[in-house]
Amino acid sequence: MTETHHETELLTPSPEGLARAAALLRAGALVAFPTETVYGLGADARNGTAVAAIYASKGRPSFNPLIAHVADVSAAQALVEWNAWAETLAAAFWPGPLTLVLPLRAGHGVSPLVTAGLSTLAVRVPAKACARDLLAAFGGPVAAPSANPSGRISPTTAAHVEAGLGGRIAAILDDGPCGVGVESTILGLAGEAPMLLRPGGLAAEEIEAVLGQPLALRDAADPLSAPGQLLSHYAPRASVRLNAGSFAPGELSLGFGPGSYDLNLSETGDLAEAAANLFGHLHRLDAQGQPIAVAPVPERGLGVAINDRLRRAAAPR
Ligand code: TXA
Ligand code: MG
Repeated sequence: MTETHHETELLTPSPEGLARAAALLRAGALVAFPTETVYGLGADARNGTAVAAIYASKGRPSFNPLIAHVADVSAAQALVEWNAWAETLAAAFWPGPLTLVLPLRAGHGVSPLVTAGLSTLAVRVPAKACARDLLAAFGGPVAAPSANPSGRISPTTAAHVEAGLGGRIAAILDDGPCGVGVESTILGLAGEAPMLLRPGGLAAEEIEAVLGQPLALRDAADPLSAPGQLLSHYAPRASVRLNAGSFAPGELSLGFGPGSYDLNLSETGDLAEAAANLFGHLHRLDAQGQPIAVAPVPERGLGVAINDRLRRAAAPR
């Protein structure tokens, strides 16, 4: 565990707030900031001590590699060996909720703690204006996992970050809730075919339409194809039951589609709305300390990422 900070600064994305956040990053401190997917816990990716503090403050196992957030394609190209798939996908989906894993480029300057010693690096250009403004003000790559204690639900508001990491990080940049609500889709582009390493905020169908080919699926038996994807993750404190058709007394119900539930991911059955609500609703139900049962969510589009996170929330631990 890291040493305790006296107090976590709460910053707004004003010019002063952004300048303060960038100065803290330059000084090697940790700053949580919003992206369109979830809040990230940022550190200067070139500063090994700062990156080590990410692992320490989250209590995260250090074999879990991090995503380097950059301002634009040229900043990504300075870190990784670019290729034709990356070119096509970046043109279609950046800035946005897509992370590309590519071979590290000589002279990249990124701390080996970011890649956990791998020869590849995950890079992404986030879309949320506050994240882009911070990256521009800082002027370098920012390593950032989701800003939650390891194994707990990902944060989609500054209040979630404060509740999980307050007092343990230098600052939180607050720019309201995250619009997408689940983490980025991660694609491996360092192998023979583009591979879906993690379903996320960009549906696989959209990627396949742009690539004109199906994505290879991750080999679950090969730990290197998705390092750090622990099964029990995103876990509320209470137990979670999936695909519930009915609800027992004492269970809190999380719905999808029309019906009467304690909370509903989307009354109209809209998967984008459900993704945006997912972690916030799990945080609210978890605060009540009772078992949670979740109605079925269709396994298509963003439903694939939602169900992936729900299965992790429900996994034995
Ligand atoms: O939306 C997101 O992606 C958020 C926001 C903050 O950008 N970030 C996020 O980071 O979800 P994190 O650390 O929770 O998840 C990063 C995952 C790792 O668990 C690992 O599975 C994968 O990215 N990853 C990172 N580097 C990799 C690499 N070189 N090869 C394969 N997978 C990698
Ligand atoms: Mg995470």
